[in-house]
Amino acid sequence: MLKKSGSDVRCVTLPAGVFYNGDCISGAALYIPDGSVDLIITDPPYGIFGDTLHKHYNRNEKFVVDGYVEIPEEEYGNFSLLWIREAERILRPGGSIYIVSGYTNLYHILAALKMTGLKEVNHIIWKYSFGVFTRKKYVSSHYHILFYEKPGGTRTFNLESRYGLNEKNGDGRSLNNTDREDVWQINREYKPGVVKNKNELPPELLEKMIQYSSNEGDLVCDLFLGGFSTAMAAIGLNRRATGFEISPAMFDARIPAIERMEPGSLLSLLRAPAREPRKNQRKAWTDEDIQYLVREFDKRRTSGETKKAIIAALGDVLGRGHWAIVKALKKSAGDN
Ligand SMILES: C[S@@+](CC[C@H](N)C(=O)[O-])C[C@H]1O[C@@H](n2cnc3c(N)ncnc32)[C@H](O)[C@@H]1O
Repeated sequence: MLKKSGSDVRCVTLPAGVFYNGDCISGAALYIPDGSVDLIITDPPYGIFGDTLHKHYNRNEKFVVDGYVEIPEEEYGNFSLLWIREAERILRPGGSIYIVSGYTNLYHILAALKMTGLKEVNHIIWKYSFGVFTRKKYVSSHYHILFYEKPGGTRTFNLESRYGLNEKNGDGRSLNNTDREDVWQINREYKPGVVKNKNELPPELLEKMIQYSSNEGDLVCDLFLGGFSTAMAAIGLNRRATGFEISPAMFDARIPAIERMEPGSLLSLLRAPAREPRKNQRKAWTDEDIQYLVREFDKRRTSGETKKAIIAALGDVLGRGHWAIVKALKKSAGDN
């Protein structure tokens, strides 16, 4: 259902989330409440005249949807500060943000981040294939991914969401550790003849960030939706999704695909990690652990964290699984 939701923002409300066609800075200020988002994954315009970028690339431009909106170089610094301040406001305490950036304007994004309360977790290098062709210099084939957190709450980091801690490859190297190195080699998808956004991010990259940094039911936001690739991956992994795209052409072209995306449809395609049993699994609870659990749970609920995030975090601390924590909380509520 498409409707006008404000002066120059249209919105589409779907079971998996609300999507806005308009500027993310003024749009978020109007429509996204403080502390309501668990995870932001976003890929802002590069400020390198992306709307004419195709002239440098040898590819058939007729499949790139018109309307990619670029930011003039001289406005990039201020633009970055404005949208990153909005991102900080809408993130919950403990929420995570991943910003994908090229090298040219990276310094503007880093400077803007420094002017907020967001804190660096990792600076990831994403290496991909299909670098820009050169003859007299090395071929540029990486992007930067700035992984930051909003302090003040528990950050979701699902350590064994993709590989169990004891899983090894044929050479005896830890698969979990390798997957968590800060250089990621993930190729861009080559999709000849398919309607796409310029610089569309590959699903594998998005799924990795979503798996590590959110839980099912969490709200994932992309302030620059482009081809809606973040939203597609989030809905497919049974998260809620929201975001903004300023280009009406891009927005209208992608809404049908989002409408068709089945919530949770990607979950069965994920690799099942071989997890070790939790260290206190099947052991009786001590009074001390129960008191700690109830005290911490209440404290974190008061600070606005989601139940799921708190249960995951306390499960790690107490060496217990999700259901053991839920049962212990129910029992202690019944006892009081
Ligand atoms: C690098 S692309 C995002 C690509 C996206 N991650 C994908 O995988 O398809 C940046 C997008 O931001 C949009 N954009 C530019 N300025 C915007 C603004 N102020 N608010 C919302 N979207 C904007 C552009 O039209 C473009 O589609």
